[in-house]
Amino acid sequence: MTQADNPAQGAQMEFRGRMSYGDYLHLEKVLDAQEPLSTAHDELLFIIQHQTSELWMKLAIHEIRSAIVAIREDRLQPAFKMLTRVARIFEQLNSAWDVLRTMTPSEYTQFRDSLGQSSGFQSYQYRAIEFLAGNRNNALLKPHAHRPEVLGKLEDILAAPSLYDEALLLLARQGFDVGVDATRMDWRETRQESAAVLLAWRDIYRAPEEHWMLYELAEKLVDFEDYFRRWRFNHVTTVERIIGLKRGTGGTSGVSYLRKMLEVELFPELWKVRTEL
Ligand code: HEM
Repeated sequence: MTQADNPAQGAQMEFRGRMSYGDYLHLEKVLDAQEPLSTAHDELLFIIQHQTSELWMKLAIHEIRSAIVAIREDRLQPAFKMLTRVARIFEQLNSAWDVLRTMTPSEYTQFRDSLGQSSGFQSYQYRAIEFLAGNRNNALLKPHAHRPEVLGKLEDILAAPSLYDEALLLLARQGFDVGVDATRMDWRETRQESAAVLLAWRDIYRAPEEHWMLYELAEKLVDFEDYFRRWRFNHVTTVERIIGLKRGTGGTSGVSYLRKMLEVELFPELWKVRTEL
């Protein structure tokens, strides 16, 4: 028999006492974790869409954390690679909305009550991403007060500089005047926008060839925020398409809350600098 007759020839077929694909990936755990609470056909889509998003967010957190350390240690090339990956993660999470959009309001209504008060608003990984990037709304710790281990992880993030804070500390190390951002000690709150930082980025963008690494860092950050914004926009559009202007299961005003969130800027001076060039 030739290879063409039996393409699987040579493949390992015996796994008693050996680690298989499913063992390595703990597929039983992953594939047993979908437990619809209703008999509605579309609930499985809803659960899988959220779970896969959370898995990708887990990877995004891993990459952002490592990028923060790399920037702190002046290792910019590895940081660029990680930030590119984060942007790509959000790019593909953006495409994922197309799957969820196949669910109509009539279909969602069949199981919405089963969700009770649960909502993506309580996603601690999403909050971790926002906190790591630099959007630090402490009030949003509250939904996690009943889970000390989750609260502790979010508090730890707030105790250290964010991705943007580290970028500004790097600018300071390279001799740019970034004002108070060079000497901050308390990282808990979102930093205030600053004229000094805007001028520093302006100098970098005006002479990219002189400051290539910082220029590239700026563009990596903008790329990340660009895809993150698109995620927010796709979310609110999908939400409006499915629930209109109803309140969210998490208790907010729904679409109008999410529209407000579209205004949040993670790296404000990097957007403002465009006007200055
Ligand atoms: C039928 C689909 C969906 C609907 C109707 C929906 C609806 C909502 C609403 C109304 C909110 C505002 C909070 C509230 O009052 O509940 C919200 C927040 C949120 N949702 Fe969704 N959502 C959907 C799908 C998803 C998916 C697939 C994810 C992926 C993980 C997600 C993640 C989030 C996050 C992270 C927030 C918090 C946003 C923030 O605070 O800025 N949602 N969602």
